Amino acid sequence: MASLTVRQLDEALKARLRLRAARHGRSMEDEIRGILRNAAEQDEPAPPPAAAKRGGAREGSRRASPAPDRTPAEDAAAAHKHILLVIGGGIAAYKSLDLIRRLRERDMAVRVVMTDAAQRFITPLSVGALAGEHPHVDLFDAKSEFDVGHIRLARDPDLVVIAPATADLMAKMACGLADDLASAVLLATDKKILLAPAMNPKMWANKATQRNLAQLVRDGVALVGPNAGEMAESGEVGVGRMAEPLDIARAAATLLSQSSDALKGLRVIVTSGPTHEPIDPVRYIANRSSGKQGHAIAEAAAAAGAVVTLISGPVTVADPPGVRVVKVERARDMLRAAEAALPADVAIFAAAVADWRSATNSREKIKKSGKEAPALALVENPDILATIARRKSGRPQLVIGFAAETEHVVENAKAKLARKGCDWILANDVSPETGIMGGDSNTIHLVTRSGVEHWPPQSKGGVAAALIERIAAAIKGRQ
Ligand code: C5P
Repeated sequence: MASLTVRQLDEALKARLRLRAARHGRSMEDEIRGILRNAAEQDEPAPPPAAAKRGGAREGSRRASPAPDRTPAEDAAAAHKHILLVIGGGIAAYKSLDLIRRLRERDMAVRVVMTDAAQRFITPLSVGALAGEHPHVDLFDAKSEFDVGHIRLARDPDLVVIAPATADLMAKMACGLADDLASAVLLATDKKILLAPAMNPKMWANKATQRNLAQLVRDGVALVGPNAGEMAESGEVGVGRMAEPLDIARAAATLLSQSSDALKGLRVIVTSGPTHEPIDPVRYIANRSSGKQGHAIAEAAAAAGAVVTLISGPVTVADPPGVRVVKVERARDMLRAAEAALPADVAIFAAAVADWRSATNSREKIKKSGKEAPALALVENPDILATIARRKSGRPQLVIGFAAETEHVVENAKAKLARKGCDWILANDVSPETGIMGGDSNTIHLVTRSGVEHWPPQSKGGVAAALIERIAAAIKGRQ
């Protein structure tokens, strides 16, 4: 029987298979197995009904696997880019080995710097085998300094990824220390840095780490993770797990495809998601906002070089990289957080704030009395957009709101622009049949004082990119 190995395939085919496998989050071998299985199934005679049903279910579950979260444009932008991966000393370093593979699957070239502590967890030998070149480990290694040197290590890459970023590495970066190769390279680089923190939840929650993190985000460092979950230490649960290698590779590709300096030096506030207005300890008033649009805008603004504060209501979408996220529940907390985030150049209010809250917030769970249903008295929430737009002092140059409408979309948005005193309104039709609420695409009508622009339907990421471009042009025009 003939045997075929991946090695025997030609380079162009291997590259395409590698990209395809990475897009589906599978190993190359699994991808090839899947292709062969599908091809074989297509040539088979139609199965009998019962088997067809079982086969259909299998097919269905395969389709139901998470949708590939990459676009061809993102792949193309990331391919052949140079990544400098700094591996810090934490147990999550073992995942960095997989990360190297994930980055290389996307055709990125990976050069690695390991800290002393990282070498206690994984060996330079395994790193070198996966990266295709020896990792750099010593600031005072004469040969390495002669060949490459820490300044070239800092200057050559398109993106620096730190994974795992330990509390110690973050502290060094925040202070500008440079007493080993990793910290010296990080101080010497002017490239975009993506940080994938990993540490014990108590270390992550420590005020010093949070202070360092805030400093790093202010300095423009992008962030992916950490995730919540079980720690390596038995019994430890909390926030501190390193993001999964696939997610880190995706964040790296996004940064490589989006990064520009269009909003460099600007401070941007974005509100996103719904608010939850408590009725009693277990019940609340909410709405169907997913936060996808607001989060996409925050991500795009950060990728364009802005210093971004995202004030988010309760959502399930992930925190965007490179953004300071303030998590709130109630409208009143969202307003307080927005005011605390000032001064800012631009404020974008994408949150679906509850217009009303319960007049009372019962300390005890309201019980069924067996007689009449209790009456729910409502009071109006503060209007965050109008409050910021009408500030006498410290008003951002550009205040932007959204109008989620189900009828007379543009007319209502024009009225809202005047009523709230903001500069632009992005109006969209959120009737259930549009699928915009919670969906991945959006159709925007941009209402400004000088007219209305009708944007084509596009992904929420596309809307975010278009908005950032529009903001950059407007700010430039005012300067
Ligand atoms: O009045 P309406 O809710 O339709 O206005 C929508 C716009 O106003 C959105 O930009 C939303 O974020 C903002 N808004 C707010 N605070 C409220 C209500 C709405 O910031 N209480």
